[in-house]
Amino acid sequence: MPTQVTVSAPVNIAVVKYWGKRDTSLLLPTNSSLSLTLSQDDLRSTTTVRIDALFNKDRLWLNGKEEDATANKRMVRVVQELRAVRKELQNKDSSLEALDEQKMHICSENNFPTAAGLASSASGFAALTFGIAHALGIADKISTADLSRLARQGSGSACRSLFGGFVAWNMGINPDGSDSVAEQVADEKHWPDMEALVLVASDARKDTPSTAGMQLTIETSDLLRERIANVVPQRMSDIKTAIVNKNYDAFAEHTMRDSNQFHAVCLDTFPPITYLNDVSRAVIHLVTAYNNLFTEKSDNAASSKKGYRAAYTFDAGPNAVLYVRREHVPEILAIVNATFPAPADADKQTYLGRAAQYVGQEDKTVVSDLLSKIKMAPMPQGSLKRIISTSVGDGPRVLGWNSEASLLLDNGLPK
Ligand code: DP6
Repeated sequence: MPTQVTVSAPVNIAVVKYWGKRDTSLLLPTNSSLSLTLSQDDLRSTTTVRIDALFNKDRLWLNGKEEDATANKRMVRVVQELRAVRKELQNKDSSLEALDEQKMHICSENNFPTAAGLASSASGFAALTFGIAHALGIADKISTADLSRLARQGSGSACRSLFGGFVAWNMGINPDGSDSVAEQVADEKHWPDMEALVLVASDARKDTPSTAGMQLTIETSDLLRERIANVVPQRMSDIKTAIVNKNYDAFAEHTMRDSNQFHAVCLDTFPPITYLNDVSRAVIHLVTAYNNLFTEKSDNAASSKKGYRAAYTFDAGPNAVLYVRREHVPEILAIVNATFPAPADADKQTYLGRAAQYVGQEDKTVVSDLLSKIKMAPMPQGSLKRIISTSVGDGPRVLGWNSEASLLLDNGLPK
């Protein structure tokens, strides 16, 4: 009997960035990192895996295009490891079918632009690992931490997409990577008013892929050494505390500082890597000017109250992710829309998606007062391609088995 399963996995956006590998084949990082898992209702990779005795080779389709399944070494490794787990089970129980010997067809789709700095490899490899584990019947025999360790070998950041909520990837110290694994710091219900606004500045493929970029940084950046040794360890501890205590000020400041340092490290790479563009820099300027309006001017230097309203972070691309609290979303969206006017021909539903629900909910007098204090000239129309509003979400989901709906494969081939 062939088995077929369809799963989805979420995107995650780090607030303490992973950048640098100490082992390029096991994908072991030079520092720990921490991310928020975004809701799969908005951003996801969906993957169907079918294992069938009638197939004569492994095949893979990504976003409708067949790829050479044997050429992607990282994928081959993940598949091999999962088959080895199945084999071990079969060795212990001879009544189990030898699924490890059968070939598989894998079909995967993202509902967002690939390689636009939206961590498509993270959700993609998380879905692949989770889907194959289910198809092989080993998902309930292996812990989420073990799945995370396997997904890590596909793409480092994928290990964090195996969990929902707030997720730390502990770099570990073992040369075999056995302790380099993600763990949940808090689940998706912990901080329910935490929202994300993704400001898509470009949906084009990024210039320097992260794998190549981070190796060049390791080889050439002195600043990276400082970051690894003296910045990230303390920041990991501080931001975990901020999350546990729902301390937005501390969370926001670490998030922005870490994004700034990651891009500084990119610029310290030789030749330099630049992911931010003029639109990204304008977002940073806007968020800073906006936050400044609320920052408490206190004589007490020790006062920890900052009054931040928005925190930006940028991955290996120009798109901004703003982590904001729900009560401020309408106001922030109005300020963003005024500063980055939508393209003239924009269809509101496509441009704003779920964010459209917040439009008009802002206090217009307050917003125009804020804009007059921010004093920023609007950017050209269409500087942003779209805005995605989302929240913190759960880990991978099983969508259906065999002939149930939402499958991407029909008789083993893409629909
Ligand atoms: C900037 O996980 O895509 O998004 O392990 O080489 O596949 P590989 O890299 P990848 O790098 C992600 C880098 C980042 C920061 C982060 O997500 O932590």
